[in-house]
Amino acid sequence: MKSILVTGAAGQIGVELTQALREKYGAGNVVATGYNRQPLNELKQTELYCRLDVRDASALNQIVEKYHCNTIFHLASLLSAVAEAKPLEAWDTNMNGLINVLEVARTHSCAVFFPSSIGAFGPETTGLNTPQDTIQRPKSLYGITKVSGELLCDYYFHRYGVDTRGLRYPGLISNKALPGGGTTDYAVDIFYAAVKNRHYDCFLRADTQLDMMYMPDAVNAAITLMEADSARLKHRNAFNITAMSFTPEQLAAEIQKHLPDFKISYRIDPVRQAIADSWPRHMDDSAARAEWGWEAKYDKATMVKDMLEQVTVKLN
Ligand code: SER
Repeated sequence: MKSILVTGAAGQIGVELTQALREKYGAGNVVATGYNRQPLNELKQTELYCRLDVRDASALNQIVEKYHCNTIFHLASLLSAVAEAKPLEAWDTNMNGLINVLEVARTHSCAVFFPSSIGAFGPETTGLNTPQDTIQRPKSLYGITKVSGELLCDYYFHRYGVDTRGLRYPGLISNKALPGGGTTDYAVDIFYAAVKNRHYDCFLRADTQLDMMYMPDAVNAAITLMEADSARLKHRNAFNITAMSFTPEQLAAEIQKHLPDFKISYRIDPVRQAIADSWPRHMDDSAARAEWGWEAKYDKATMVKDMLEQVTVKLN
């Protein structure tokens, strides 16, 4: 029986992953924790919500012991744009948070899920069909913490046998909790602006192509990877996964099929543009397909249709 701890449970991935984990394993077996954000009501409805700063190793230990956790989905992290504004805080949260999780996992025999990102690549990496195993020299602080995190998870597996597994997520699009200061956030913001104002002022250039994924696929990927037969996993950590790849201009054109009067304009943020220009346009996710059967359900057309429906309901 799984007894699960989720860190960053009030974040963009956390809210939907926690809900899916509670549906699959039972609400009483999933402890949600968060720190910076107020949790949505759904999370608080059960008593299994605790405020936790992942940098506090002793508080983390107490929760794992109290609830006898054997699996940790460690989502707490500062995203790319925030990390450029607060590099020391991002290093502290992203790295010390992770090592605390890995240490508690080592001493309490927990499995660990760690989300890496397209941010783990840099300008020297091949941007089209980015291989699973390739050069990783990210230029953003966020990316540096993600590569370090991938290596640390590998280290804890090889050195101590901790069952660490992870994914390199592309930009994630969702409608429950907002992303918190990433470079790919435009692909979420655009839907709220389209439904409310029929206009969006985009902070990335029209032709900036990036890998993307709809949240139901991202949640499903995390759960499927953690359930996968470990004997089949050659990589374990940091599997490339993707579902679609588009530019702001192409996303706007898809939205215009539903809202013909929608217009996009551009006011470039140089910090986020530089980050986006250093990230892959499309990753090769064949290792994930071969080793644990990864397959996305949503493409650009089905994601846009569903996002517009969900955001319209939410805003009304
Ligand atoms: N969505 C993240 C960001 O933009 C990338 O992992 O920071």
